[in-house]
Amino acid sequence: MIKVICIGHDYEYEIKELLKNFYKPNKIEISSINYEEYIDKESNIYNAEETTLISILEINVNNMIVTSKLNSGKEVTEQVMEEKIDNKSHLEIKKISKRLIKRSIFKLLTKSQNIKVPWGILTGIRPTKIVHELLEKGISEENIFSILKNEYCINNSKAQLLMDVAKIEHKFVYPIDESKVSIYISIPFCPTRCLYCSFPSNPLKQASHLVDDYVQALCIEIKEVAKLIKESGKTVQTIYIGGGTPTTLSVKQFEKIFNAINANIDLCNLEEFTVEAGRPDTIDYEKLKFLKESNITRLSINPQTMNDCTLKEIGREHTVKDLIESYKIATEVGFVNINMDIIIGLPGEDSKMVEYTMNEIDKLSPTNLTVHTLAIKRASRLKEKEKEYSLTEANKVIDMLNITKNYAETMGFKPYYMYRQKHMVGNLENIGYAKPGYECIYNIQIMEEKQTIIALGAGGASKFTYPAENRLERVPNVKNLEHYINRVDEMVQRKRKFLIV
Ligand SMILES: C[S@@+](CC[C@H](N)C(=O)[O-])C[C@H]1O[C@@H](n2cnc3c(N)ncnc32)[C@H](O)[C@@H]1O
Ligand code: SF4
Repeated sequence: MIKVICIGHDYEYEIKELLKNFYKPNKIEISSINYEEYIDKESNIYNAEETTLISILEINVNNMIVTSKLNSGKEVTEQVMEEKIDNKSHLEIKKISKRLIKRSIFKLLTKSQNIKVPWGILTGIRPTKIVHELLEKGISEENIFSILKNEYCINNSKAQLLMDVAKIEHKFVYPIDESKVSIYISIPFCPTRCLYCSFPSNPLKQASHLVDDYVQALCIEIKEVAKLIKESGKTVQTIYIGGGTPTTLSVKQFEKIFNAINANIDLCNLEEFTVEAGRPDTIDYEKLKFLKESNITRLSINPQTMNDCTLKEIGREHTVKDLIESYKIATEVGFVNINMDIIIGLPGEDSKMVEYTMNEIDKLSPTNLTVHTLAIKRASRLKEKEKEYSLTEANKVIDMLNITKNYAETMGFKPYYMYRQKHMVGNLENIGYAKPGYECIYNIQIMEEKQTIIALGAGGASKFTYPAENRLERVPNVKNLEHYINRVDEMVQRKRKFLIV
């Protein structure tokens, strides 16, 4: 158990996120008190039986001083840091003080514990944003690299990853073009629910009777939102049909959706159209041929692992053979740009199995590979049954990610987008790799949050961006299928005021 006391600030959330690298979340108790209270109690604030961390922020006219004190046994260790504040705004002071506090705590804890924390004090889910901001300010790559290492305590390999990803992304995101938007279409149905999944996915066994009505409602939303896009004068850069597993739909159902898109949305400037064909148990020749003929430019066929025993364990009702067969059909009907998703840290998997997965993927030679680190999400079956599984330790997951990184390099891939999620094993990351020229524009835009993404369908969450104000408005659709079907007009109205000013 570690007891944390914040004095002169209330950055409890940020400190807790950082401490999760060192302690289990249920072992962290955190509170704030004011400075006077602290002075009163100082002599008896440490209890020999529990570890106590004190984090003090003092702001003076010209500088701020941050002190972190940690009792380890009878001894109290201390880390003091100071920074000038010049004429900085309140917001900047807050940002700097948070960083300073996290850094001083980080230095104190890494001194006393032998734990690898590759991402240093970075707890946010979109770390590349920092690099983009610095690049936009005209700061040299060399200086950005040293800021990542010294200010954020990120290790060499992650700092290099951030630089590599940001440099590729930069040309897709900047200069920001506010006339372009992207569209996400949610198909929240799946054959069965995977062990680790927390996405809006309704197993067909329970929801198949709603699919036709869902498609009908979706077509209404496509038609009505298309009118708003037209009225706003925006053009559509990319479309992404995701889920769930969109290929649970039949050719007829897809046809209705594509007809609604083609009849209502101006596709003259469309640069990319992705369909997630996630699970091989939803794919056949006829469907893939139809998708290819409907001008889909990018497909995702996801193994997650190339080990049959793991597929069984995670509740995916397909085999590795099915996956390879689906991939071959996709190439046969003419798809060139194909992504594959895998997850590292799946229950029961060791480094050898990860190597086997990578070797098998190498044989198929996709243009994109997305490597996820297992996240134990609250709404998943895995979280419910966590104790029944022997989950891989963070250090081993780091080794496995290195295997994927080495394979990716020899396969000619470059990392082109990345993000982190809550509850990931070892607080690591997800990395999207692509062969040069095959980067998924939609993935970059959704991560960097500089382009408006209009999300249609149940569970879709639109993001309207205002780059000049560095602002973002999130507008969710309802998740429940029946609610969506009955309230589709309201979903359109929710977006109207953000598109028509
Ligand atoms: C939104 S899911 C949809 C993809 C598709 N339905 C499938 O499962 O093949 C996108 C990807 O996220 C990854 N993913 C889902 N849940 C995850 C978890 N708990 N931890 C790590 N990765 C996860 C999987 O690799 C999955 O392919
Ligand atoms: S991981 Fe994909 S296929 Fe599995 S339940 Fe989630 S969305 Fe469906």
